[in-house]
Amino acid sequence: MIEERTKLVHAFGALAELGQEVANRHNFQETIRTSLHLISGALGIMRGGVARYSRYGHELNMLAVRGLGDDFPLSLSLCLEDERQFLTNGLNPIETSHARVLPFFQVYDRSFESRRIELFVPLVIRDEIVGAIFLGEKATGETYSSYEKEIICAMGRHIGVAVAQRNLMAEIERQTAENRKLFDDLRTTYNDTVKAFAAAIDCKDKYTEGHSVRVGRYSEIIAAELEWGTAEVEGAATAGYLHDVGKLTVERKIINAPYRINAKESAELNKHPAVGYEILQPIHHPYTDVPLAAKYHHERLDGRGYPDGLYDREIPYIAKIVNLADSFDAMTTDRPYKARRQAPDVVEDLKRNAGKQFAPELVTAFLRGMLREISGDAKDKKFRRLLGREYMETEGMVPLLRKTLNEMKPTSSLTYIAASVGGDGPRH
Ligand SMILES: [Fe+2]
Repeated sequence: MIEERTKLVHAFGALAELGQEVANRHNFQETIRTSLHLISGALGIMRGGVARYSRYGHELNMLAVRGLGDDFPLSLSLCLEDERQFLTNGLNPIETSHARVLPFFQVYDRSFESRRIELFVPLVIRDEIVGAIFLGEKATGETYSSYEKEIICAMGRHIGVAVAQRNLMAEIERQTAENRKLFDDLRTTYNDTVKAFAAAIDCKDKYTEGHSVRVGRYSEIIAAELEWGTAEVEGAATAGYLHDVGKLTVERKIINAPYRINAKESAELNKHPAVGYEILQPIHHPYTDVPLAAKYHHERLDGRGYPDGLYDREIPYIAKIVNLADSFDAMTTDRPYKARRQAPDVVEDLKRNAGKQFAPELVTAFLRGMLREISGDAKDKKFRRLLGREYMETEGMVPLLRKTLNEMKPTSSLTYIAASVGGDGPRH
């Protein structure tokens, strides 16, 4: 009687420890190994194993084994009949010697026999088989008592819950990975569509072939230089690619005029930012500023831009980026009425207009990116690919860029004034 009570205390101690182990669940494999160790230790069992059930493969895969030897199968298949019987049986120990009618015990009879597996416990949690426990004979050679079986059931429930939790986590991780893939596919489709659109816009303007695509790339360079995150850099590129989408509705002869257009034609052309906004606004963009970039990419910091004559901080930041990229491309490509300007001249222009047309910190970022590439600090040759090697690496460019960058002010003088008066700055 005293011996029985000692055993009982010992077994319940093991159960408490097992509960603790499952609750901690920092390392799943370790939890299962410890569980098997605790059951074996508490009941004096020499051999056993804990398996996890794969409902896709219909097999029990061993997670932890003890004294089963190398030839005991690590993966055991179940047929539908086995599954059905185990579900009906629930989380109760099955004596292998009494269960030979089931296909599972017939198939693995020799393995069970040679390792003297006496008990098989299907881990049924919430009407689902999540695993199984195999237990060999007891060290004393006695058969399992009913209270020992109860202990095994209680411990099995703890282990089953741990396995079920693990399965749930794995399922969540799988679904997360699937969602991530779907999202990436969608993003690729969106970006490809944007590029196709940019190519369509550029088709209309035969003199500025590839303009939208280049503006997209320059906007991307500026955003990357500002150390924006991947999605934001993609957003800046998109805004650049689509900034002139409104030109799709402007007459081809105005866009392609081989002369400086008159006031009426100019008024027609100047509608394209507002039209672009109308086109882009109803679309759900992953990057919200895309329509605003189209609408305000001809605004200037000093309020002399169009369509609304916005002033410095009223202009959305993304539109300032696209404006710089747009202007840079206009200066560095041939137009029917104007040959492209040389690189040092363009750098001077950007510096001169920083704080008037361009945001100074963006000019700084852009020129810094240029300097890093020409001086060999940047691996990716983005400018060279867009403008040609000779153009970018004109003599004296590195000292010129260094000098210009040293002289650049971090923010516009207009912003300083606006900040010091505490208002939004002068209106136009
Ligand atoms: Fe434009």
